[in-house]
Amino acid sequence: MEDKINQLLHEVENFRADALENVEEFRIKMLSKKGHISELFNDFKSLPVEQKKLVGQKLNQLKNFTQEKINHLKQTIEEKSSQQKTSENYSDLSLPVDFNHIGSRHPISIVRNQINSIFEKIGFVISEGPEIEDDWHNFSALNFAQDHPARDMQDTFFVEKDPDIALRTHTSSVQVRVMNNQKPPIRTISPGRVFRNEAISARAHCIFHQVEGLYIDKDVSFADLKHVLNHFAHEFFGPDARIRLRPSYFPFTEPSAEVDVSCPFCKGDGCNICKYSGWVEIMGCGMVDPNVLENCNIDSQIYSGYAFGMGIERITMLKYLVNDLRLYFENDVRFLKQFANAF
Ligand code: PHE
Repeated sequence: MEDKINQLLHEVENFRADALENVEEFRIKMLSKKGHISELFNDFKSLPVEQKKLVGQKLNQLKNFTQEKINHLKQTIEEKSSQQKTSENYSDLSLPVDFNHIGSRHPISIVRNQINSIFEKIGFVISEGPEIEDDWHNFSALNFAQDHPARDMQDTFFVEKDPDIALRTHTSSVQVRVMNNQKPPIRTISPGRVFRNEAISARAHCIFHQVEGLYIDKDVSFADLKHVLNHFAHEFFGPDARIRLRPSYFPFTEPSAEVDVSCPFCKGDGCNICKYSGWVEIMGCGMVDPNVLENCNIDSQIYSGYAFGMGIERITMLKYLVNDLRLYFENDVRFLKQFANAF
């Protein structure tokens, strides 16, 4: 009898089916009143008592195993057929299609492209340079004194010390490369990623983007600078935008100024974006310091120039009213897809 049990066990183990009818046939063959397992239970009654315990256990195991196997097969077949039904629905070609989810440009790219094109239209050429820079291109050529605080470890991510190699802290470094390699007249803008060792918060980030501009020629004056900045403000913020310049300091420009634009939201009346001043700061600018020209082998007796630099994040915040810088770097699709219709 034990042989018979083992043989049936083997048969159950190997049983396969892909239709419910086959499973039902198998159940009848094994477990119905006249099925093989039920017959064994009948034979069991006439076994000598000493064998009953062991054979009884085995027989019960066989019965349970068979029942489980049947349940399992039924379940898998039912699941498969319901999946098939849904996929059959999709084969109905008259159903409306799923929309293609078209990606969107990152807001920083949108604004960078817009700034680039405003300057390209008036003759500026885009120049790019490395994100990892040496001390000369990022600081020394730009007239930073050896003990200038911006060289401090607090602001700069150093990659190597002596000689100092660092992640560029501004794209003015690209302009040094342009001045070293080209003869005036030079009219260039340098968009790119820059790095400063700042704690990350809604208002500051250790990575951000800049567009810096440089124009060098004979007789370039502060009036030319003001004119080009005014043009930019009108093109970017609209014909009503006004600018004002406040005296400031940068090692590489003299004189230097901060540029404010009339608040694009309240048009100068005062709101919480401009902190009720009517103005928002958008960039730094100035006349290129003659030392910088000389450092780059440009004769400062013949040539003069202006430079300006703006943070793209800041301009983007003003354009789209984004109030937290971190959103630009998290790449949360819920944020990004809001720019799907922008270009
Ligand atoms: N390089 C300056 C900065 O990163 C910006 C600037 C550029 C200021 C050119 C003046 C002239 O903050």
